[in-house]
Amino acid sequence: MASSYSEFKGQPRLPKFASPKRYDIRLKPDLVACIFDGVVAIDVDVVSPTKYLVLNAADLSVDSSSVFFKLKSTSLEIRASGVGLIEADEILVVEFGQELPVGIGILNISFQGTLNDQMKGFYRSVYEINGEKKNMATTQFEPADARRCFPCWDEPAAKATFKITLDVPSDLVALSNMPVIEEKKEGDIKTVYFQESPIMSTYLVAVVVGLFDFVESHTSDGIKVRCYCQVGKTEQGKFALEVAVKTLELYEKYFDVPYALPKLDMIAIPDFAAGAMENYGLVTYRESALLYDEKNSAAAYKQRVAIVVAHELAHQWFGNLVTMEWWTHLWLNEGFATWVSYLAADALFPEWKIWTQFLDQTTDGLRLDGLSESHPIEVEINHASEIDEIFDAISYRKGASLIRMLQSYLGADPFQRALACYIKKYACSNAKTEDLWAVLEEVSGEPVKELMNSWTQQKGYPVISVSVRDEKLELEQAHFLLSGSPSDSQWIVPITLCCGSYDNHHSFLLKEKSGSLDIVGSSWIKFNVDQTGFYRVKYDNILEAKLRDAIERGQLSATDRFGVLDDTFALCTSGQQSLTSLLTLVASFREETDYTVLSNLINISYKVMRIVADATPELVDGLKKFFISLFEHPAGKLGWEPKPGESHLDALLRGELLTVLAELGHEGTLNEAIRRFEAFCADRNSPLLPPDTRKATYTAVMQKVTASNRSGYEALLKVYRECDLSQEKGRIIGSLASCPDPEVVLEVLNFLLSSEVRSQDAIFGLSVSSQGRETAWKWLQDKWDYISKTWGSGYLITRFISAIVSPFSSIEKAKEVEEFFASRMKPTIARTLKQSLERVQINARWVQAIQKDNQLATLVQNLSQRN
Ligand code: BES
Ligand code: ZN
Repeated sequence: MASSYSEFKGQPRLPKFASPKRYDIRLKPDLVACIFDGVVAIDVDVVSPTKYLVLNAADLSVDSSSVFFKLKSTSLEIRASGVGLIEADEILVVEFGQELPVGIGILNISFQGTLNDQMKGFYRSVYEINGEKKNMATTQFEPADARRCFPCWDEPAAKATFKITLDVPSDLVALSNMPVIEEKKEGDIKTVYFQESPIMSTYLVAVVVGLFDFVESHTSDGIKVRCYCQVGKTEQGKFALEVAVKTLELYEKYFDVPYALPKLDMIAIPDFAAGAMENYGLVTYRESALLYDEKNSAAAYKQRVAIVVAHELAHQWFGNLVTMEWWTHLWLNEGFATWVSYLAADALFPEWKIWTQFLDQTTDGLRLDGLSESHPIEVEINHASEIDEIFDAISYRKGASLIRMLQSYLGADPFQRALACYIKKYACSNAKTEDLWAVLEEVSGEPVKELMNSWTQQKGYPVISVSVRDEKLELEQAHFLLSGSPSDSQWIVPITLCCGSYDNHHSFLLKEKSGSLDIVGSSWIKFNVDQTGFYRVKYDNILEAKLRDAIERGQLSATDRFGVLDDTFALCTSGQQSLTSLLTLVASFREETDYTVLSNLINISYKVMRIVADATPELVDGLKKFFISLFEHPAGKLGWEPKPGESHLDALLRGELLTVLAELGHEGTLNEAIRRFEAFCADRNSPLLPPDTRKATYTAVMQKVTASNRSGYEALLKVYRECDLSQEKGRIIGSLASCPDPEVVLEVLNFLLSSEVRSQDAIFGLSVSSQGRETAWKWLQDKWDYISKTWGSGYLITRFISAIVSPFSSIEKAKEVEEFFASRMKPTIARTLKQSLERVQINARWVQAIQKDNQLATLVQNLSQRN
């Protein structure tokens, strides 16, 4: 080999002197030996004369003697004089003895790879058929793993067409992005030829080979939609299929552009790292995100399936047809798909009040973006290994929330019109964030670019402090940080407010650091009406008291009650308000009935209980009593069994209320749960344990388990081993570590690493009881080498760190964690680790603030006695 190709090393992007136009790929997977052979012929457009072609490849063994370039004009074949794989950069440098002329030629490469167990690239998943374990082959290429399946220009902007051919065992089903055009059988092997795709990015290419059944339907304009499931489980695919057909029709109208491919397949894959993947025309899912079982699935899963399907189908336009130019603009994909999925769910299931539930997204976005270790939505990416970590609450949840904020500022109709223009303008091409703003600005006539740049190009968001002074409302914005440290960032904030009634509504853009308004009256004033803005509001004491009063009188909408509560909680976490004032506010939610608001109250109660246990353990019992009294009432009304014709939201609420009561150690709930669980163990068809109550029941069972009384744990493991519904397994795993006995927690954590738990599911078992926290941290250190080896190549590894590290609340612990990871740092965990450590510091400060709060003890005493 001539040189070390140093000029190509360490570059974030491939050089631009050649680009692919068409791939002709042939793959032959061997499902027994778990290897594959491949040949690719790539039509390459050489735009400036070059002796090199530089493309991506990783974990492939390339047969150097097979590599040649055939000029289209003269049919001259030029053999490669050198082929070098640069591992660190995952690139393949092909060198030629002569310069390739400008124009089109075909690059031919033969190669081999392994069907790996890492849930990325071309990988193996395991399923059971008639009690026998079998391998299937499937792909997951986003963000940058197509290069593990075939050599390619593996960047979203390098769009090309794909002609795929598969050689597979003749009894199996072979799927890809496009429909099959021909199948040729030869003995045990069949060759399946797929139609050539329209131009698309490499990360959207997909192939699946295995044994499956399907259910099928059509959209009104004749697109064939199928849902593939494990053999014998097609019944469970029907709900997703129906959602898919309706959603496709809805998006065709909303984007005013037809679905671009002749078919859409969706398929459940038993081993799957993400929740689902929007491969063009062949969307892959975790089983639990696609399959819905009328008898065993909780309402929460039904909703999850609908949202996930709607999300992935949104990508068929936003992402697949119009693709981000580079990963910096990932949020365009994910933020939009997240936002649009709610739009679809709302159209299909108005009774779900999904836009109120959307606030869960916003609050998660605000939570992560409240860290100084957050990042701007538009984030620089210098290496493929950095991409995984930005599939986070910033890209998804802040992204979706900003879109909602902008839509509510511009109005739904102009917004939709502009989106349709954008999709048409950039169809079959790539776009950047600024391209979207330009179209929105043109269609709406509003200063979208200036407004939105302040939200996407800097991290964080503002808190608006509001106070009454001299008969005026004074407003001031400041960067909101949970750690309290100041910065001088500023935003253009779409301010909305209501005074005394929802008819008395005002809105304006706050462009400066501060402003004032002539609106003062005696009634309540609520800012950020409907919580469509991505910011927090801090009221002065007088305004705050009026809002509390309005909540008690039932004068605020559910979204606004949610907002007041959530902002107060965040301000309290950051030390800008006391726990006393948070709990006083919480007490005004005694009559609360809205699902989303109660669900947020429940989450807040978990966090408050944890921090108080660290700060002032003597107050824990009183606080438990208070929370129990708050949740007992709505839980009592809902009971354990579904009422005929009850709402979806009641079903969701029942599960969450019973779970929190179990965790709070409410005896009535614990005993009832155990009674019902025993009936369920005796008869899996017992009506005593409806799906919505199972998570609560399993949690209750684990509350009573100790190292010397393990029967409940054993019984749960038995259910785990006997069920074959992925959702049920997930539910059980998710409740095991809530056990208060650290010895049992350790056993549970080791169970997660056993062969009985699919590596995709282990992360669900990491919500450890506070008593087990220290054990979990020791375990993480002990097992780090193994964990890092097993999950280290994907983004699931970050969950181990965030779940186990973030709940700590002392500076010493932060130091200990930092020291441990100092020698174990990798780019894939760097961001998560910093964020988790920052959370520990925030908790530590919060603990100190609580210890200094001298009104707290009296308040907790009072609250715990009121009933
Ligand atoms: N494009 C993602 C899948 C993905 C995630 C690929 C991370 C690579 C890394 C897909 O569209 C997605 O966002 N899936 C979500 C589900 C969705 C409903 C939020 C997921 O996997 O959780
Ligand atoms: Zn997505």
